[in-house]
Amino acid sequence: MEPTTIVLFGATGDLAKRKIYPALYNLYLEKKLPETFSLIGMGRREWSDEFFQAQVEKSLHEFSRRQGDHQSVKSFVKAFRYSVLNITHKEDYIKLLQLVEQREAELGIPSNRLFYLSVGPEFFEPIAENIQASGLGSTQGWKRLVIEKPFGHDLQSARDLNRKLSESFTEEEIYRIDHYLGKPMVQKLETLHQSNPIMKALWNNRYISNVQITANETVGVEERASYYDHVGAVRDMFQNHMLQLLMMMAIQLPYNSTSENVGQKKKHIMESIQPLQKQTVGASIIRGQYAAGSIQGKPVHAYADEPGVAENTMNDTFIAAKLQIDDFFWRGVPFYIRTGKRMKEKSTRIVIEFKEPSGQGHLIKNNGSKPNLLVIEMSPDQSMTLQLNASDPENKGEFKPVHIDLAPNQGDLAEAYENLIRDALHGDPTFFAHWDEVELSWAWVQPILDAFNENLLPLHLYPAGSYGPAESDAMLEAEGHHWWFDEPSELISEQDSDVPMAVNGNS
Ligand code: BG6
Repeated sequence: MEPTTIVLFGATGDLAKRKIYPALYNLYLEKKLPETFSLIGMGRREWSDEFFQAQVEKSLHEFSRRQGDHQSVKSFVKAFRYSVLNITHKEDYIKLLQLVEQREAELGIPSNRLFYLSVGPEFFEPIAENIQASGLGSTQGWKRLVIEKPFGHDLQSARDLNRKLSESFTEEEIYRIDHYLGKPMVQKLETLHQSNPIMKALWNNRYISNVQITANETVGVEERASYYDHVGAVRDMFQNHMLQLLMMMAIQLPYNSTSENVGQKKKHIMESIQPLQKQTVGASIIRGQYAAGSIQGKPVHAYADEPGVAENTMNDTFIAAKLQIDDFFWRGVPFYIRTGKRMKEKSTRIVIEFKEPSGQGHLIKNNGSKPNLLVIEMSPDQSMTLQLNASDPENKGEFKPVHIDLAPNQGDLAEAYENLIRDALHGDPTFFAHWDEVELSWAWVQPILDAFNENLLPLHLYPAGSYGPAESDAMLEAEGHHWWFDEPSELISEQDSDVPMAVNGNS
């Protein structure tokens, strides 16, 4: 890997502390960082290099999945320098450029610069502009911009932001982070259907009955009410993470696909999703907000009573959707998506339900057999399980489900940020959100935003600690389906995994 300078905006912030420094450190321990790298962190506070290094060290002790020894921590933080920066002060960028150049000269490295924006979205444009104006972006080597979400607030603001950024960086230089794309099981999913002919053969409407994508959280709005109350589940989770999971699940990739293929195929999926009309959004979208309830035995407030939430708020803390991808492979297969705060449990998973043999549905119902399922658990568990039917040795003529573990011994997997930062340093954009996808997902979501804004569909309350409003269950029941695993009896426990089998993995 080429020597690199990471220029980190927002170095004193929470994300840097919890995710970025631990990710860099774990990459360092695994020798996956460039042999010579330097990091220059910026923030508003007046910190010395030593104080900054001590803060980074502290964050590793608190948040890193591995501690390493004292020596490795010390030699890791030695690469860190600090510069005070007021985002709107042009002269601060000139000072920063001098520091970057001085470090490059000291280390004898070319000017490969990775600018990482871990700051509020209101700062994206001025920073990009000042990088360009100050000369920081005029490198002899490569330059890249890594940018956190949210990328816009709606279709128009996302387009405006993109236009502004493209004055300083080309599309190939922009790495938009969606941390769901860094999750190890999402990356394995891509390998699963790309490199296994059996899976490839089944990956279509001939064999798949429906697909369910769930991201339930037990946490509420926490200290983020001022942000969340203007954003809701639709912008916070659905437009980005959930649609990215849908794309990653539905793409049909040729063997040995390049990053470009992945981008094109994802774009195709977004273009093929049947568009919504603002007036009829309610037919396929359920909007919910948590009422008071209890989670793991503890009473919790209603969203409307959380500190910082507007009086009479109509904000969505839950959204469920039914989508149809209108192409050769997926026509007729419903994709159900749901995400919510203050749900019964934390679980991020994709369930692929296969069709029953045609005409035999009535037989199957009475003999203990279940539909074949492929279950991809992303959080908190990380697993991939195939549910099949086998004959029940104790009851002749009856079946019982068996579970094949397709991703055993997950052990200590890399965190999403490790995968993403490594890829950005390598210049591999596969698991980042490309502009086409981002624009198309905002365009698809826009009628939902408008309908929510104009209250064209009901806001259903659901008790905290439940699986969301009853209307979300009813949406599936109307089509003869149900959300898998809301019933504890359906859950696949570890002991249930009968046959371990390794699958090609890349993480
Ligand atoms: C973030 C959202 O992008 O993702 C948060 O802003 C949410 O509201 C989080 O809690 C969920 O991420 P994960 O990895 O815990 O599922």
